Amino acid sequence: MNATVRSLGYAVLGADDLEKWRSFATEVLGLQVVEAGQDTLRLRMDGYLYRLQIEKSDTRGVTTLGWEVAGPRELAELARRVEQAGYTVERPGPDAARARDVTELVRFQDPDGLTLELFYGLTSSLTNFVSPTGNRFVAGRLLGLGHAFQLVKDPDAHLALYRDVLGFRLSDHIEVGPAAVATFLHCNPRHHSFAFVPTAKDDRNRGQGVGHLMLESESIDGVGRALDALSAHGGKMTATLGKHTNDKMISFYCESPSGTGIEYGTGGIEIDDETWTPTRYPSAHYWGHER
Ligand SMILES: [Fe+2]
Repeated sequence: MNATVRSLGYAVLGADDLEKWRSFATEVLGLQVVEAGQDTLRLRMDGYLYRLQIEKSDTRGVTTLGWEVAGPRELAELARRVEQAGYTVERPGPDAARARDVTELVRFQDPDGLTLELFYGLTSSLTNFVSPTGNRFVAGRLLGLGHAFQLVKDPDAHLALYRDVLGFRLSDHIEVGPAAVATFLHCNPRHHSFAFVPTAKDDRNRGQGVGHLMLESESIDGVGRALDALSAHGGKMTATLGKHTNDKMISFYCESPSGTGIEYGTGGIEIDDETWTPTRYPSAHYWGHER
């Protein structure tokens, strides 16, 4: 296997109220707003033009994950492999790429119908990222925007897609319930860029789909300030500050105006394939993360 996904490049979320997102993103998360038209809000966290795109829509939550690949040869190879695995791959052409501000993209549906895009060439911004809260993020070319955690109907199908087709490697497993195991996968030094857990629920808007996106601050102070800002903002915390067993991240969880959770953390470990050995944990938390 040669071509693999390199990082989580962008996520597209639907929301009914863009102004709620604007204040949540700037006041709580410390993301920078980039104007992108009446029905779209783009949010920056590093040197790229955007990392999150919020679209005014009746469909709430994450509608698309954009996975970055190394270039045109890798994109063609991965698209071919996705097709060989039985998925229908759309090649929507230059207009779709321009709409995302990437050089080229292809698109398909994951086993649960979530849209995945493979792309290369996300546009760099001409200006420095300036966080409205003074935060700095662990992101950039190598590590991407963070991670996505998805509740899936068919974990075997997701494992086959992400590991065997897209080239992710196993980070570890966590037992999250009596019979439920979460699987964590990496595609760069970030401990995981994608994770999934099986769900029995069948509704895309309730209990299925991307449960949370993780954004990583460079410091615990960035996390503490975001916690203070969340309470000043009247935002909904969904899990208190806690420390994860597998990636060692100290984080809290809150609900975004799209309904999707945001994990806001710091101190996640980086791993390398030369020395990493997948392990297993009986819990996701050393302490905290009370719901
Ligand atoms: Fe997470």
